[in-house]
Amino acid sequence: MTAPTNTQATVATNAAWFADNDQYAENQSKLECYQHIQRTVEREVRGVDRLLDIGNGGFFNFDTALAGHVTAVDLFLKDGPGPTPNSTFKEGSFLDMPFPEGSFDCVMQQNVLHHVTGRSVRENFSNMQRCVQEMYRVCAPGGKAVIVESTVGPLFNLFEKVVYRPVLWVKRGGHPVTFQYTAAQLLDAALKTGFVLEEMSFVPRGRWLLQFGIVWPSLLTPAVPVKLVLRRPSVAKVAALAA
Ligand SMILES: C[S@@+](CC[C@H](N)C(=O)[O-])C[C@H]1O[C@@H](n2cnc3c(N)ncnc32)[C@H](O)[C@@H]1O
Repeated sequence: MTAPTNTQATVATNAAWFADNDQYAENQSKLECYQHIQRTVEREVRGVDRLLDIGNGGFFNFDTALAGHVTAVDLFLKDGPGPTPNSTFKEGSFLDMPFPEGSFDCVMQQNVLHHVTGRSVRENFSNMQRCVQEMYRVCAPGGKAVIVESTVGPLFNLFEKVVYRPVLWVKRGGHPVTFQYTAAQLLDAALKTGFVLEEMSFVPRGRWLLQFGIVWPSLLTPAVPVKLVLRRPSVAKVAALAA
């Protein structure tokens, strides 16, 4: 894979916003939506030998003891041991992860893709595709990828496309600029990359959601968290498909 051009314009803003953001972790622990996410994630990671948590945020929102070993990667993490006995922290970007091909039995990202934004809508889509390709690359053949991501409907996605550049021009400081995809766009990127879909489901939103770092009544936001469970085909399967 060729080295990516640095299309993520918001690296510094994301790193500054999320490093030591205790409020973010505290809000999550209180809200029903994130308790649903925790339950669904724990179902997926139970019994996994080598797990990668991408864009981890500096804290685990699941019980790491359910997996053999958990590696967490984020822009601002310092390389070294994680907060639990079986975890390791690693600094790195989703766009170009510091791990060799096939390093993990399960690769997971929760609510990161909408943060890997660029200078245009086109760059957002190309970053998102690139991230999904990176998930595929570091996932072992036959391994699993889990995407838990806040999505929007096609109409709101169209609205975002229209306002994205103007918002970039005027926005100064505060929460990083985000761009949310539709569930179909995420699925399309995953299938194009070579993943096979095993499950797609929507996570119940509960009454309150976090949007732009603020707690909102769910009914006032277009966001719906989706979970995709994907499989990187085994070497034998890829060979059989190619024959
Ligand atoms: C909304 S938080 C999600 C944190 C955690 N995954 C969770 O679900 O609670 C987004 C995280 O993505 C990280 N992030 C943003 N861009 C990234 C990139 N290019 N590479 C790695 N992490 C990134 C941010 O630093 C932040 O920790």
